[in-house]
Amino acid sequence: MAKAKKTAFFCQSCGYESAKWMGQCPGCKEWNTFVEELPVDKPAGRNKGIGAAAHRSEPVSLRQIDIKEDARVSSGLAELDRALGGGIVEGSLVLVGGDPGIGKSTLLLQMCRNLAQKGMKVLYISGEESLRQIKLRARRIGEFTDDLLLLCETSLGVIAQVIERQKPQAVIIDSIQTMYNEEISSAPGSVSQVRESTSVLLQIAKGKGVSIFIVGHVTKEGNVAGPRVLEHMVDTVLYFEGDRHASYRILRSVKNRFGSTNEIGVFEMRDTGLSEVKNPSDFLLDGRPADASGSAVACSMEGTRPILIEVQALVCKTNFGIPRRTAAGADFNRVNLLIAVLEKRLGLNLANCDAYVNIAGGIKMHEPAIDLGIVLAIISSYRDQPIPDSVIAFGEVGLSGEIRAVSMAQQRVQEAKKLGFQTVILPKVSMKTVDKIKGIRLLGVQSLKEIMALRFLD
Ligand code: TYD
Ligand code: MG
Repeated sequence: MAKAKKTAFFCQSCGYESAKWMGQCPGCKEWNTFVEELPVDKPAGRNKGIGAAAHRSEPVSLRQIDIKEDARVSSGLAELDRALGGGIVEGSLVLVGGDPGIGKSTLLLQMCRNLAQKGMKVLYISGEESLRQIKLRARRIGEFTDDLLLLCETSLGVIAQVIERQKPQAVIIDSIQTMYNEEISSAPGSVSQVRESTSVLLQIAKGKGVSIFIVGHVTKEGNVAGPRVLEHMVDTVLYFEGDRHASYRILRSVKNRFGSTNEIGVFEMRDTGLSEVKNPSDFLLDGRPADASGSAVACSMEGTRPILIEVQALVCKTNFGIPRRTAAGADFNRVNLLIAVLEKRLGLNLANCDAYVNIAGGIKMHEPAIDLGIVLAIISSYRDQPIPDSVIAFGEVGLSGEIRAVSMAQQRVQEAKKLGFQTVILPKVSMKTVDKIKGIRLLGVQSLKEIMALRFLD
């Protein structure tokens, strides 16, 4: 009797493999994510594509390696280029992740349009939408050249043949969850399929020098493999985030082999597709209430760019026994920590108060430099005392209530000046890294006590 084929269980969220089913994944601690799949047995000789060009494996010295200068191509969207680290690198594999409906297909179609207009051969492969749907979307975005190649296909074997025949310079795969490799029996979207399909694409990208963009949906449900399992295989990982109901979108690079990470690009979704937001600070501070308590402006560095944000806090008396705390956009534990520091070091009676902290615009910021902004907003709301419109603050708050240094103070001050702020509250230790700038007053502070002594918080 033939032996039954052995199966294994894979976590659909992180790719953890186990011989038996488990309720909770030991890898990522997600619940109910294990699905039975046939493991891929790797016959010898697979994955030969990458090394096919180099017949013998001989080490070479660093000096002998030629790199072509200027191997980057602009995508025609400055914000996308910024997230990519300066443009599209030839032969790179880029993963664009994000919630469904956030605008990944729109962004990549716009990129295709720009590349095709430059005379590049671009192939857009969709496994989700029909050609008609793509055409309808393209009509909203604007004029297209006739040269953009479209293909509706989900079989990787066919896709590899088409790429072989057409020899495009850039390929978009929308999305990796719909693609399947015939050699693997698991369903499209499962961890094995997603991982194997990506490895085929990796071989095509590196072997033929084609730049490939892969779209991956991130969902909480277990049945679609999150793109997290393929983050380590690709060169660049971009995440598209933002509130689906708000109009702006943030493209954040979380991994980049060709540039700095944490760089962000900001877009606004319009009825004619995504448009670039050249000055995000302006955009995020728009509509800031004048003379309202509980609102402070802070500065966060995102990659190499300073971004000004409005931190809002609402502190009010608790009606029930346990005070309620929420943090939207900022780290919840960090906010709790700052509240504890305020209580202990400044003696504010926050134990009887609910505190709601929000970063306006729905943007997520995790840099410790916004601590001072959060603290100012909380104090301002607690005392019902507005902070003047012309003040901005940045600095990390330590557990003893000290204000610690932050990096790139100069750029932050310059951004504040550009947006017309007149007073900058910053860590005293960071003062010496900032040159004097005319028309802006620098207030160096060492501890939270000094903040409380500031006149506008009396
Ligand atoms: P889409 O790119 O299809 O998202 P994803 O590929 O990430 O799933 O974006 C779809 C959303 O964008 C949809 O809700 C409609 C909206 N949209 C606009 O608001 N304006 C436009 O010009 C386009 C093309 C889409
Ligand atoms: Mg899509």
